[in-house]
Order: sequence, then structure tokens, then C-alpha cells
Amino acid sequence: MTGLTAYFGLLDIGKPKEGGTIVVSGAAGAVCSIVGQIAKIKGCRVVDIAGSDEKVKFLIDELGFDEAINYNTQNVGAALQEACPNEIDVYFENVGGTIGDAVFPLLNNFARIPVCGAISSYNHASEDVGLRVQSYLIKTSSLMQGFTVGNYLSRFGEGVEALAG
Ligand SMILES: NC(=O)c1ccc[n+]([C@@H]2O[C@H](COP(=O)([O-])OP(=O)(O)OC[C@H]3O[C@@H](n4cnc5c(N)ncnc54)[C@H](OP(=O)(O)O)[C@@H]3O)[C@@H](O)[C@H]2O)c1
Repeated sequence: MTGLTAYFGLLDIGKPKEGGTIVVSGAAGAVCSIVGQIAKIKGCRVVDIAGSDEKVKFLIDELGFDEAINYNTQNVGAALQEACPNEIDVYFENVGGTIGDAVFPLLNNFARIPVCGAISSYNHASEDVGLRVQSYLIKTSSLMQGFTVGNYLSRFGEGVEALAG
């Protein structure tokens, strides 16, 4: 299920292009470790955000991603700016909150943002209010779209076959 979520969210909504930069949050988790691997196959520069140095090392050394940021020890906005000199073409959103907020000012024109999860706010008792994203989406003509993997039920066979390959 997690692989299919990565496959359809990234390819149908994120539409990664060779040479583009993709940022992935929750990057060492089940969904996003697959998102990053598919993005590498598509020829993208993959920049990850995760919560420990051990995860950062795993993402770079074992999965072969290009850059990884530890959101617990680094300033995410500054680190993203440095890691994404050509700005961000795809942001695969898994966590929301202040990590998502750091991405919007760095979007490239016509960026795509598949909104898969918002794990940082699932347990909040009140509304999670952060950056207002509208002006960033307008200025860059970017597309932000939520989805659930169930939307793709009729195409699961295609996804399983591609992921097995
Ligand atoms: N749309 C869909 O159909 C669909 C399907 C499956 C899953 N999802 C969503 O996708 C997301 C990832 O799922 P998963 O199965 O990959 O989960 P997972 O394997 O448990 O990974 C979740 C990751 O989120 C990070 N995380 C947890 N709390 C955080 C916080 N407060 N701030 C920042 N990062 C945090 C953790 O990494 P660190 O230790 O690095 O913080 C963890 O690696 C979840 O939001 C889930 O609800 C959506």
C-alpha cells in the first residue's frame, strides 16, 4: 500500500522530470523512501528531510539520495535553500507543519505538490495554522493536490507491476 501511494502520488501528481529537484519530507518512512527511489530512477535530484543523523546517513549512503536534512538539528529553510540552488520542482508532502512552510518560498515556477500526509498535525487538538500558501502558489503557478491511494484502486495492477520491476 505504501509503495502504491508513492508510485501514484509522485507520478500522477508530482510528474517528476529529468534534472528536476524534488524535496521529500518524512523521507526515511515507508512511503517516502519509495518516492525518493522512484524520483532517482526518473533522473531527479532528491533532497530529503528526516529526523535524525542516522536516517540522514541511511538516505544518502544506502538509498543514494543527493542531500538529506535533519530537521531536528538544522534550520530547514536555510538548509533547503543551500541544497536546492535551482529551486524546488516537486514537493512530496508527508508531514506538513513548519517543514512544509519552509518549502513554499523556494518553489520553482509550475512546481507540483502532492499532499500525501500531514503527520505532524494529526494529534493536534486545535486547527494547525501556519504559512498562508496562496500567494506562493499564485506567484509560481504551482499545483498542490491532496490524494488518497484509494483513488487509484482501478490501477493497482499497473502500480504493482511497475514497482516489482
Ligand atoms: N494519502 C494516502 O493515501 C496515504 C497512504 C499512506 C500513508 N499516508 C501518509 O503518508 C505519511 C507517511 O506514511 P508512512 O506510512 O510512510 O509512515 P511512516 O513509515 O511511519 O513514516 C512517517 C515518517 O514521518 C516522520 N514524522 C513523524 N512525526 C513527524 C513530525 N512531527 N514532524 C516531521 N516528521 C515526522 C517520521 O520520520 P522522522 O523520525 O524522521 O521524524 C517517520 O519516518 C503519513 O502522513 C501517512 O498518514 C498517506
